[in-house]
Amino acid sequence: MPLTPRSGWPETGVTLETFKDRVAVVTGGASGIGRALALALSREGARLVLADVDEAGMSAVADAIKARGGEAVAVRTDVSSLEQVQSLADRAWGAFGAVHILCNNAGVAVWGGLEAATYRDWQWVIGVNLWGVIHGLLAFLPRMIAQGEEGHIVNTASMAGLVASQGLGVYSTTKYAVVGLSETLAKDLRPYNIGVSVLCPIGVTTRIRESERNRPDALRNPGRQPRSEPVQLMGRTLTPEEVAEQVVIAIRRNQLYILTHPEGLDPLRRRFQRLERAILGQR
Ligand SMILES: NC(=O)c1ccc[n+]([C@@H]2O[C@H](COP(=O)([O-])OP(=O)(O)OC[C@H]3O[C@@H](n4cnc5c(N)ncnc54)[C@H](O)[C@@H]3O)[C@@H](O)[C@H]2O)c1
Repeated sequence: MPLTPRSGWPETGVTLETFKDRVAVVTGGASGIGRALALALSREGARLVLADVDEAGMSAVADAIKARGGEAVAVRTDVSSLEQVQSLADRAWGAFGAVHILCNNAGVAVWGGLEAATYRDWQWVIGVNLWGVIHGLLAFLPRMIAQGEEGHIVNTASMAGLVASQGLGVYSTTKYAVVGLSETLAKDLRPYNIGVSVLCPIGVTTRIRESERNRPDALRNPGRQPRSEPVQLMGRTLTPEEVAEQVVIAIRRNQLYILTHPEGLDPLRRRFQRLERAILGQR
């Protein structure tokens, strides 16, 4: 697989101006942000590959796309399995012959203090939220580069990947990692004409608070209910459609950070002020 940058490609990357007939893969495409993203990309002319563990949810999204004259295939995929993500990539190239937009979006959350987090909590959340993204890169990136066309990767992180909140430590660990991975990926992929965005929302009206519905039996905590109630998030709660609209714009602009909630500015500023004070030797 040739992984060297093509000569003549601009160092800064070119934006993906039209989605017409481009192929987009969306993990977690059965619900919430992934569902809205799939519908929005399809409306812009893209052909969709949906990946999720929720087959009924995915079929409903695929049917909605087809009912409007779009194209979509749904592939049952557990993103925590490299093998399954690799066969998702095979199915995507088999169906459409190319992949231009990869949205590593599937995610789950657990709530509660880190002092009580179990090994299974860590395994489950890291498996989906971090390994899911890494598997996406391993399975798709070499072929996206080899196909030699413009492309874009969107990784869904969270404001919890930029600012820490009490009670969200396991989740935050994975989302900070996705932010770091995405920031590096944007630099690494610049010569290949593949843009990168990292999506960092705060509250969005989705089923994330019911994440336990997707926890495999083998990773459930024995005899225990979910440890804590979801933490209260600051700021407004956006609809998934509002978030998807911002993602579409960000792909077009090849914009790295997608910060959907301006309310995030204050906590971000406070974090950087604390870092600044530490550098300056102040308390
Ligand atoms: N909703 C919010 O407030 C919010 C805020 C910040 C970030 N996010 C992130 O947005 C992303 C999408 O979540 P959402 O809010 O739309 O929640 P959601 O629960 O509505 O959708 C998540 C989707 O991921 C799927 N999924 C779960 N485990 C999977 C697995 N192992 N393999 C494949 N698919 C799997 C679910 O079936 C579901 O369709 C997640 O990465 C989440 O962390 C959400």
